[in-house]
Amino acid sequence: MTESRVQRRRRFVVCEPRHFAVQYAINPWMSTGRPVDVIRALDQWQALVDTYRAHGHTVDTVAPVPGLPDMVFAANCAVVVEGRVFGSLFHAPERRPESVPFEAWFKTEGFEVHHPESVCEGEGDLVPAGRWILAGTGFRTTRAAHREVQEFFGVPVISLTLVDPYFYHLDTALFVLDDGTGGEGRSGGSAGSGGNIAYYPGAFSPGSREVLERLYPDAVIATREDALAFGLNSVSDGRHVFIAPEARGLADRLAGRGYVPVPVDLSEFHKAGGGIKCCTQEIRETRS
Ligand code: ARG
Repeated sequence: MTESRVQRRRRFVVCEPRHFAVQYAINPWMSTGRPVDVIRALDQWQALVDTYRAHGHTVDTVAPVPGLPDMVFAANCAVVVEGRVFGSLFHAPERRPESVPFEAWFKTEGFEVHHPESVCEGEGDLVPAGRWILAGTGFRTTRAAHREVQEFFGVPVISLTLVDPYFYHLDTALFVLDDGTGGEGRSGGSAGSGGNIAYYPGAFSPGSREVLERLYPDAVIATREDALAFGLNSVSDGRHVFIAPEARGLADRLAGRGYVPVPVDLSEFHKAGGGIKCCTQEIRETRS
């Protein structure tokens, strides 16, 4: 019998893709010769926001800034744990100015913001998972930033090395299915500490793969096909998994584990190397 999963309502922050474009290439998905259909992007993005709201989640918006085409990828602007905001210092000079409007927004909302000393791309590479934070490095966020994150939050940070340029951010190779809080029911994951995850092992160095196997013996394993379809750039609320419709194999496996896949098509954003999770920043106010 499959377990029945329990949702926890979330607070998300997003940024409308009014100025979305591919004007530079900083990952293998991006090609400046391939135009973006902004009207289509706006429709897809609106459908994501509507879907979150229809499932009971709160969605706040940060105003987009002309000339910052990647601002739609709000996940990269910070990581928020227990109401504390650790901002971003982008790797690419083109993205560095994005920190300013996002940090200003957090301050207006009453949060204190820590601006990092080392290159660090928010939830793109820093994935809070119950009692620890999974942290990616290899392409963007540095190990020095992982240390800074651990020092700032006082939460153990588990460094994982990414090796495939198509999966340059941790959130393109792994997502948290449930955070192990189990507060509203039997949603707790393996060992009741770091929740449970889905991931694509091929995106990680051999040592990091072994770390994930030890921490998550119960993980849902994705194929390269699932990962290339942005299936791991998903958002789970503990029950519903907002997932790219092309990641059919992964969606079926998740359904087999009792999750409810909710397909949301963000294919226009794949041209910039982003998907559902990249467009979604989560504000975690309380201790899990
Ligand atoms: N074009 C953006 C970049 O390369 C895409 C960011 C996608 N965001 C994410 N969380 N993976 O930085």
